[in-house]
Amino acid sequence: MKLTRRSALRMALAGVAASLLGARPAAANTRIVRLTRIKVGATFAFQLSNGAPALLFRTKTGVFAYQTICTHQGGATKYFSARKLLVCPVHNASFDPFKKGAVVAGPATNPLPTVKVAIKSGWVVLA
Ligand code: FES
Repeated sequence: MKLTRRSALRMALAGVAASLLGARPAAANTRIVRLTRIKVGATFAFQLSNGAPALLFRTKTGVFAYQTICTHQGGATKYFSARKLLVCPVHNASFDPFKKGAVVAGPATNPLPTVKVAIKSGWVVLA
């Protein structure tokens, strides 16, 4: 197949459309994990329907979650429980999951996006 300028543009537009469609939020009530599988103080890694990695936290008061892709340039953050921070290995931005994903250290300037979760019938679900 010969790749013309027009076909290359068409493929690029299709890629953009696919990525936009892939960014749709997952359906509410989608089960993530049984609540009993996560101890208080523990985390649970899962993936959103668009493929984005996410991390669920269980505390004494409930559950909350974030997408874990760094808001700077898309690095994969990792949770360090001893420091209670999500840290990006690319440029060392860090985020506080107990303060709504706030940036603790740059170069990122935006908090991690929250993932709305709830507890329903013994399951943690997308809210
Ligand atoms: S990509 Fe995460 S700090 Fe730059």
